[in-house]
Amino acid sequence: MNPPYPPPIDRVLYTEEQIEQRIREVAAEITARYRDRSLKLIGVLKGSVFFLTALARHLEIPVRVDYLAISSFSASKSSPGVVRIAKDLDEPIEGDDVLVVEDIVDTGLTLRYLLQTLAGRGPNSLGICTLLDRTSRRLVQVPVEFRCFEIGDHFVVGCGLDHKQYYRNLRYLAVLKPEAKG
Ligand code: IMP
Repeated sequence: MNPPYPPPIDRVLYTEEQIEQRIREVAAEITARYRDRSLKLIGVLKGSVFFLTALARHLEIPVRVDYLAISSFSASKSSPGVVRIAKDLDEPIEGDDVLVVEDIVDTGLTLRYLLQTLAGRGPNSLGICTLLDRTSRRLVQVPVEFRCFEIGDHFVVGCGLDHKQYYRNLRYLAVLKPEAKG
């Protein structure tokens, strides 16, 4: 059965215009930080694709893009934060200025694993940029340098964030109705 459309949302957190405006601001910060350098954006599939694309369009420095995918076993309470790379980067990152682009940093477990792995490959620098940051649920500290929005403890969809793989394509960020989340 297809999921309902329009989606069963409780409320819109940020509109398309607010998100676009904030992405422009963060892109300007990143441009200033990496001026006279080139940047490799690493997107974590699949959630970050929408944000990465919107962000990259506003960066005014030379940019390359690569992607990786992670399988997370965080659902298992016995071994939270167990992750592995399901699809690796196409290119090495040795000597590169790397910015990992995320849709949301929640517990930080996925990102901690990712940073450890990438740091071992000898990048010149390794930063994090996320669309959403939910620091209230953080279990491990990760150095988030660029964030668009801090959000509270509610499940959100849109702008790459999914529920059962749906609703990534929403142009706004919304809180899903608790009963819809199941
Ligand atoms: P963590 O930081 O390791 O806990 O995991 C972050 C990942 O959990 C994100 O990349 C998302 O895929 C997923 N996630 C966390 N919160 C939400 C949410 O509110 N909506 C959709 N996906 C979420």
